[in-house]
Amino acid sequence: MLKINEIRMDYEKEQIGITHVPEFSWTLESDKRNVIQEAYELEIAEDPSFENKIYASGNCKSDASAQIQPEGVNLASQKKYFVRAKAKAAGEESDWAETSFVTGIMDNSQWKGVFVSAEEEADKDNSKGTYVRGEFTVSKQVKEAFVSVTALGLYNFYINGKKVGHDELTPGWTSYRKHLCFQTYEVTDYLKEGKNAAGAILAAGWYKGKMGFDGLAKRRNHYGENTALLSQMVIRYTDGTEETVVTDESWRGADAPVVFAEIYDGEIYDAAKEIKGWAEPDCTEGTWKQVRKLEYDFSVLTGQGSGKVSLMDEVKPKEIFTTPEGDTVIDFGQNMSALIQVHAAGKKGDVIRLDCFEVLDSKGNVYVDNLRGAKESLQYTFGEDGTITYRPSFTFMGFRYAKIVSFPGEPKLENFTANAIHTNMERTGFIETSNPDLNQLAHNILWGLKSNFVDVPTDCPQRDERLGWTGDAEIFCRTACFLENTYSFYRKWLRDVEADQTEEGGVAHVVPDIISGNEGDNWLLEQGSHSAAAWADVAIVNPWTMYLTFGDKEILKIQYNSMKNWINFMREYSVDYIWNYKLQFGDWVALDAEEGSYFGATPNDLTCTAYFAYSTGLFVKAAEILGRTDDVKEYSDLYDKIVDKFQRTFYDENGEMTAQTQTAHIVALYFRLAPEKYKEKTVQGLLRLLEKENGHLVTGFVGTPYFCHALSQNGHVKEAYELLLKDDFPSWLYQVKMGATTVWEHWDGLKPDGTMWSADMNSFNHYAYGSIGEWLVRVMAGLEVDEKKPGYKHAVIYPRMGGDLDYVKAEYRSVYGPVKSFWEVKPEETVLHVSVPANTTATICLDGAKEVKAADGLAFAAGKDCMQAEAGSGDYEIHFVR
Ligand code: BGC
Repeated sequence: MLKINEIRMDYEKEQIGITHVPEFSWTLESDKRNVIQEAYELEIAEDPSFENKIYASGNCKSDASAQIQPEGVNLASQKKYFVRAKAKAAGEESDWAETSFVTGIMDNSQWKGVFVSAEEEADKDNSKGTYVRGEFTVSKQVKEAFVSVTALGLYNFYINGKKVGHDELTPGWTSYRKHLCFQTYEVTDYLKEGKNAAGAILAAGWYKGKMGFDGLAKRRNHYGENTALLSQMVIRYTDGTEETVVTDESWRGADAPVVFAEIYDGEIYDAAKEIKGWAEPDCTEGTWKQVRKLEYDFSVLTGQGSGKVSLMDEVKPKEIFTTPEGDTVIDFGQNMSALIQVHAAGKKGDVIRLDCFEVLDSKGNVYVDNLRGAKESLQYTFGEDGTITYRPSFTFMGFRYAKIVSFPGEPKLENFTANAIHTNMERTGFIETSNPDLNQLAHNILWGLKSNFVDVPTDCPQRDERLGWTGDAEIFCRTACFLENTYSFYRKWLRDVEADQTEEGGVAHVVPDIISGNEGDNWLLEQGSHSAAAWADVAIVNPWTMYLTFGDKEILKIQYNSMKNWINFMREYSVDYIWNYKLQFGDWVALDAEEGSYFGATPNDLTCTAYFAYSTGLFVKAAEILGRTDDVKEYSDLYDKIVDKFQRTFYDENGEMTAQTQTAHIVALYFRLAPEKYKEKTVQGLLRLLEKENGHLVTGFVGTPYFCHALSQNGHVKEAYELLLKDDFPSWLYQVKMGATTVWEHWDGLKPDGTMWSADMNSFNHYAYGSIGEWLVRVMAGLEVDEKKPGYKHAVIYPRMGGDLDYVKAEYRSVYGPVKSFWEVKPEETVLHVSVPANTTATICLDGAKEVKAADGLAFAAGKDCMQAEAGSGDYEIHFVR
């Protein structure tokens, strides 16, 4: 039986509020092997019965089941569209599979609403919450209604007393002055005949709250001084007429019970200030005043269809205990970005206060020094006697523990739940091994991702930073793309990467860039606020990684100018093909740094030039894929010159690298910069430098992600496993042994003697070193993309056994369906189970196979360095002897 499992739009199951025609894809399921789609039909209609079609592909003879871009489709605003697809393959035809999507406001000239604020100009210096509300009448029977909403600041939108949608921290964080997202919701069921009310609570958020890098000089009001709401609702009646309800100067504003809310410091809520019925019609309570209209550039608005922040996992506390210093502390057992929900009984005026933090000190006491200025505090004051449920809305906290500063009565476990908060992405990658420590590492990597994908890719979720550091985002991208469906998340953020590029193409250190032009951040301003190797290369590496993961050429097209401008920037500032520029982070936080320094020992001109070459090489590939032949020629030539210069500069006449660091050797190998004749010498050099550290890494952000690759790609799988599985200091598993539940910023965040790295920069929830995740997937589990047929249209399944592991089991839910690899080492033989999704093919390689005992219908032959076979779709179980 042939079946379309699900249709996706821009790789997402749901798109509500999109303002472009998405690309369509679907997964096929069949009980046969070797299934390749022969033809498909795709239709888009205005009605679920598909009578009013706006697009019908007809019978398309094609094996494409992804990146389908229907042409000539004109979408109207705030409207639901119905989509169906069917496919033919292996002599069968599937049934129609159906889905739908909703558009936002397609053209910014159609906005009739205005931004309305309940704040006075004088409120620029505070971070209080405000209410805004308006009323409207529904006089006829409603067929459907949609509302599009955004804010300067953060908003929670309500209709008739009910919060609309399940998103949090909307409208998210973008480079607001250049790019502001709006969200769209279907609200038919929220309306009633007669009088209705709409309203919102607004808070400072990233827009006007205190944010920055330099702790001493954080600045507020990065984008504006007052919060405001913009909304526009269309109500369509069954009689065919329609009405629009917008935010305008008839709306009223008041102070909200959120007395204070900011990203770093938390939320203070005084329930006595609640206005009963504030989002319902005929509200008579409270003191309301006319709102102020704020001017804003509407051309920067874009509809966001998916990839919004939500409350995700629910984490119950493990324990409430008293520290040696006498503090009462809740342990949630997991470091995370979350909001605590409190359910408690109290009397008017009673206060609940919880201060969140990540780790206990060596004596088991509350440790908050590494939060620097961030308060991460939740405070609720009872407005009346009774039982309440409260969770803050306009902040997030990075923590595992919370100190109970104030609570009415005796706190019990059932009073608290933590709701992890991050961008709502589907889990796509799963990995499990026979080694529990490795499994914990995989868990920690996943939670590092969850914690730091809070609308933008942040460095950390706890201290007063939480910025979109580009380097962290660059090195972790491949791992993230395995674990979760990152498409919408990165696509949105890459737009800001481009928006915040300098005129010359320089890429900001943090995106959204709140450093450049921020007088407070003097150190970065003086040293340079953009264009560091490995950081700025996010402009190239991330679109490229998305192309590999999803097979999506569209993202290369969208980001092409940004990519090219970044290469041009490096070319412009290089001297005879050696690139270096102002402030470089180099091999950041490597252990071969001088005592107490963050900057690793590998020289900047080496890391810079290595990345210059690497990014230029990837850019050439992107240009080839998009058929930009002039660029292919020009930048291939540039690439050759950089590589030549790298080899002549960073190798001596004996073929030794001039920089005797692990990272220098790693990038020379992984970026393929080592001269062919010195490649083996470079490999030996790396082994020697590893040996010198007694088998330990001393690498930072630049070298760490590729260390195991540099070994395994050059005949040293065994050493790669040894490195991976080291569990004494410094190593990935050292953290695991020390009880980590996420990945640390520093190898020596917590030292073997119980002391910590300096509190000024010591996060226990940084995903950067979690970038080892990609090696686990691509090499240990052996799920690899074929660049020529990306998105796993053709996969290379080449697991490398080792590390005394009995088994490794991995699954990636690709655009085409689940690709799986599961190997088991048994005394007599090795067994490999593979799943290849319908409409894809794979090359299966048997690591070190001497004899294939059961090939499950495949024809294995000796390949370059393993026995290999070509496989069509289906499930296989192969037995072989190594
Ligand atoms: C961040 C890093 C970031 C770095 C740049 C730190 O404060 O936490 O992860 O990449 O600064 O040097």
